[in-house]
Amino acid sequence: MYKILRAEMLAANIYCMDVLAPRIAKHCLPGQFIIAKVDEYSERIPLTICDYDGEKGIITIVFQPIGASTQRMKELKQGDSFMDFVGPLGQPSELTKEDPEELKKKRIVFVGGGVGTAPVYPQLKWLHEHGVTADAIIGARSKDLIILEKEMSAVSNLYLTTDDGSYIRKGMGTDVLRDLVQNQGKQYDLCVAIGPMIMMKFVCLLTKELGIPTIVSMNPIMVDGTGMCGACRLVVGDEVKFACVDGPEFDGHKVNFELAMKRMQMYKTEEGRKLLEYQEGDTHHGGCGHCGGEK
Ligand code: NAD
Ligand code: FES
Repeated sequence: MYKILRAEMLAANIYCMDVLAPRIAKHCLPGQFIIAKVDEYSERIPLTICDYDGEKGIITIVFQPIGASTQRMKELKQGDSFMDFVGPLGQPSELTKEDPEELKKKRIVFVGGGVGTAPVYPQLKWLHEHGVTADAIIGARSKDLIILEKEMSAVSNLYLTTDDGSYIRKGMGTDVLRDLVQNQGKQYDLCVAIGPMIMMKFVCLLTKELGIPTIVSMNPIMVDGTGMCGACRLVVGDEVKFACVDGPEFDGHKVNFELAMKRMQMYKTEEGRKLLEYQEGDTHHGGCGHCGGEK
């Protein structure tokens, strides 16, 4: 069992928990994720790690209840436990593999959207600890949906924006990035975009135009997070990849977002899942238990 040391609501329908998981906290790196399971009846929920403390053995997760299992998760309080908490899973961010001295020469900008802000934080923190201070553009629908403002501003040059203009400025993260590059003389060698699929797609369209290489995190299309269900199958360039095993981070300019978003929609219906199973045969393993394709 994995004890919850802190449970709080960060913003409307966005929750944060510190979970005692020493082995994961000791070995994880930014970009990786965990799978949480509340009890034997709940589904497995893949969540990107928001923060970790190797010495205290704590993993911080941030989530937005959308289905039955995440609703169940939100009801857990300090002192309760997860039945399963597995990780670290997926590949660490490519940035963590680079020489920090080389990273210091790079001008890096992060674009985070909504709940996707949470997985941006450990990357910024890691960079900051290695002497690199990146720019971070964080967009939320409105002021009450902004999360981690204090934490993010401590480790980055933070630009906040809201879709409705209720805080700092009006517009999306893409508007701020365009403004910084085209009007304020900023230049970037790398962009990392983490948020809703539609945001990552539009960030990539913009960074292609601006000539900025871009990494995206394809966590939103994961279902079981173990390479078993086939849900997170992606086309990246001319290759087929699985977000949970090969990623979650990929070259955003090579990701086929149209296919990925269509697939996400299909996974929501029984008929859509059956069609994917039929079309993909052996590469759609059906191990998720959602599509009836278990072998
Ligand atoms: P949301 O719909 O409130 O959008 C958040 C922000 O994204 C917006 O405020 C805006 O700034 C930006 N955005 C949205 N559409 C855009 C567009 N067309 N162009 C430019 N920017 C745009 O999102 P939310 O409800 O906070 O977050 C939920 C989504 O975040 C889910 O889809 C979830 O899967 C995703 N998410 C992704 C990751 C990841 O690793 N990529 C992690 C956590 C959550
Ligand atoms: Fe990757 Fe199921 S989420 S295969």
